[in-house]
Amino acid sequence: MRGVLADTIPETATRNLYIETYGCAMNLADSEVVASIMADKGFKTTQEMKDADVIFVNTCAIRDNAESHVWGRLKEMRPYKRSNPGLIIGVLGCMAERLKTQLLEKEQIIDLIVGPDAYRDIPQLITQVEEGQKAVNVLLSREETYAEITPVRLSSNGVTAFISIMRGCDNMCSFCVVPFTRGRERSRDSESIVNEARELYTAGYKEVSLLGQNVDSYKELDLEGNIICNFAQLLEKVALIAPDLRVRFSSSHPKDITDEVLFTMKKYTNICKHIHFPIQSGNSRVLALMNRTYDNAWLKMRLERIKEVLPNCGISTDIISGFCTETEEEHQDTIELMRFAKFNFAFMYQYSERPGTLAARRYADDIPAEVKLKRLQEIIVVQHENSMALNNAEIGKVQTVLIEGFSKRSENDLRGRSDKSALVLFPAENYKKGQYVKVLIERASQTSLFGKVIELVDFNN
Ligand code: SAM
Ligand code: SF4
Ligand code: F3S
Repeated sequence: MRGVLADTIPETATRNLYIETYGCAMNLADSEVVASIMADKGFKTTQEMKDADVIFVNTCAIRDNAESHVWGRLKEMRPYKRSNPGLIIGVLGCMAERLKTQLLEKEQIIDLIVGPDAYRDIPQLITQVEEGQKAVNVLLSREETYAEITPVRLSSNGVTAFISIMRGCDNMCSFCVVPFTRGRERSRDSESIVNEARELYTAGYKEVSLLGQNVDSYKELDLEGNIICNFAQLLEKVALIAPDLRVRFSSSHPKDITDEVLFTMKKYTNICKHIHFPIQSGNSRVLALMNRTYDNAWLKMRLERIKEVLPNCGISTDIISGFCTETEEEHQDTIELMRFAKFNFAFMYQYSERPGTLAARRYADDIPAEVKLKRLQEIIVVQHENSMALNNAEIGKVQTVLIEGFSKRSENDLRGRSDKSALVLFPAENYKKGQYVKVLIERASQTSLFGKVIELVDFNN
């Protein structure tokens, strides 16, 4: 979550917008599109809720606790509405799409409900609210990609930026609400993506992250439906903009990471050697119930292939503990696969049943909460061991780091990410945000690497 401040304030702006964003990077990117649409209606963003004329909460529905948190925040906003009845409060994003008008029944302060594909309609919906009505648009689209809207970069460090390259998801993993909240998969045209990346580079940005729920299935089609640009080709186009513009991407579905993508990553030094490879489980029966389309053996084969083509690639993952009917033995398969894969880091969750999903309709959420938690804790222990061992193995090696700013703890230190996406901290000396430096790693914790700069990387030589 973040309260946000726009770095560009339109001269005509007279009113204040406060946006809080929850959920994934796609939602952060969407808030930047919303800020741009609102800027055209005369709103500038503020970091202070008390100064707002409009409050938007851009929500996530992925797990029950994500939604509970939003309900809590809305409750905290009640006094603001009471003291300023003209204040407009809108719920945007995946929870808006999932719950639609039910939100209005449960929380009176909400004036506006807008789903992820309806943000262009916000100015019209605000006018409707100003005329005294509640306003709702949760229509999903098969075409909307907001391609030509230039996002207002929010809370930007001026070095790294997100670019949304596709929307929606066609995969229907049985546990997941995203296909219901974000609709069908569609890709943005490659020209607008490359233009956005080039503009960011011209404005001084040094890293772009290409975003989608499943970026590896990116495809730009011609009018006859033929693929004219796949994900590997898009990666190449963005990598060619400039050697000192780093390219990252997320998220990948393991089934779609092709050899062509791996070899494109290998070919360009500025495509970061990091793949997010969300396995969800290590057990083949559970994976079939999850509708992930791969099994344990296939995952191992692909992990070996990634390591063969890109021996120095960082790999991270997502894991769910306690999915419907998962036995203790099947949970142990996940642990075993984690030991085999040695992921650099992982996002680890307990299964949370989402109404309307295939799993909710078909399978009993039958693993007791304490068992889900115990299995999650075991998964976390193994991940911590792996992260610690892999980080320790970096000691004595040199990493190329793009400096993103000061360390959160002290302005005596700078922070940045290695090619593999590890967080690296080092004494600031005279180095600056946006520079590339070579850092000799001297110490490691489970989450970070610590070292000292041995050389400034100069791309002009
Ligand atoms: N598209 C990505 C993929 O296919 O892996 C991930 C999208 S989802 C926004 C991020 C992660 O949330 C998933 O990888 C999964 O681990 C987790 N997740 C999704 N639905 C969940 C649920 N019902 N309960 C717990 N975790 C869930
Ligand atoms: Fe959800 Fe699966 Fe789509 Fe990822 S690929 S967003 S987990 S349905
Ligand atoms: Fe959440 Fe929607 Fe992202 S459900 S994880 S904000 S796509």
